[in-house]
Amino acid sequence: MMPGAVKAVLLVGGMGTRLRPLTYRLPKPLVPVMGKPLMMHAIDVIPKEVDEVIIPIGYKKDMMEQYLRKNRPRRKITLVEEPEPMGTGGAVKNVEDHIDGQFLVINGDSISSLDLDKFVRFHRAKEGIASISLWPVDDPTPYGAVDIDEDERIRKFQEKPKKEEAFSNLINAGAYALEREVLDYIGKGFVSMEREVFPKILDKGMFGMRFDGYWVDCGRREDLLEAYWTLMGNDSRALDRGAVREGTVLEKPFVVRGGAVVAGATIGPSAYISERAVVGHGSKVEQSVILEDARVGTRCRIVDSIIDAGVTIPDGTDVSSEIRSNAKPDAPR
Ligand code: GDD
Ligand code: MG
Repeated sequence: MMPGAVKAVLLVGGMGTRLRPLTYRLPKPLVPVMGKPLMMHAIDVIPKEVDEVIIPIGYKKDMMEQYLRKNRPRRKITLVEEPEPMGTGGAVKNVEDHIDGQFLVINGDSISSLDLDKFVRFHRAKEGIASISLWPVDDPTPYGAVDIDEDERIRKFQEKPKKEEAFSNLINAGAYALEREVLDYIGKGFVSMEREVFPKILDKGMFGMRFDGYWVDCGRREDLLEAYWTLMGNDSRALDRGAVREGTVLEKPFVVRGGAVVAGATIGPSAYISERAVVGHGSKVEQSVILEDARVGTRCRIVDSIIDAGVTIPDGTDVSSEIRSNAKPDAPR
């Protein structure tokens, strides 16, 4: 039915402003979620028949290259320079030379249980120009709201609807299966896929596929933490039990990674202690993530927070609803 192999475009551009200061150190695609960069969560579930993953990127491209050199994924990944952010549509247009048939576009800033194989099959069965994955939420206003009919045909798409015009609780979950023809509807320069392209192709046959499981946006601190707790489920692992010293209280769910040292502290509920991190006596880490090599002193309270790699939290410090990092903005070039 389709000539040429399927390509996937992974959208991970942008500066990750809502995850600063963490994203002063790392581009958002490399922000760790359960010990694995956010973008690898997306890449690892891309179906086998996709023979190339194309990533348009500007911000901290060198760090991405370095990561991919050191941790070669088992599939072909092509980074394409995007000097200025071109928008979700513009970024796709920018890599059109790499696309020769049907292709996937994936927003790399969420994690989900969407079965992409099934999604591609759905797209082929519907024979539309575009298919979109859908997820129900309580408040669609920060997303793209989608209305579908009994045949799963999209009747209406509205990016960031106002409260009063929110006509559906189904939202665009950020994965698209597209015909190459869609590229003809993307103009030059900065183009939003959601605001400019989707409205133009709506009457060419757009379909929406719902799925079960989970979908978590990772755009802000609270969402990123939610992604950890979702993936963790009711899991409780002290991967290196020797590191959990006497007097420690472990409350599910939690993960303590190898080489971490937890000495007489309370860990959890909902805590992720990364490799070689240290949590001192009498401290409590709740609803929080401690990244590699960070040191939390004694009698600290870390709640609803992310402590960046290598950061030292002095004894007796309270950290609440915060990302604590030593990272500073890059000097202007
Ligand atoms: N390369 C590149 N260039 N990527 C970009 C650019 C750009 O100029 N702008 C955004 N992206 C990437 C982001 O990194 C993200 O992974 C994805 O494209 C979507 O952009 P966001 O800026 O995160 O959009 P949003 O979260 O407000 O809304 C989008 O995602 C929602 C689901 O999470 C829309 O697609 C909504 O319709 C959708 O519901
Ligand atoms: Mg987003």
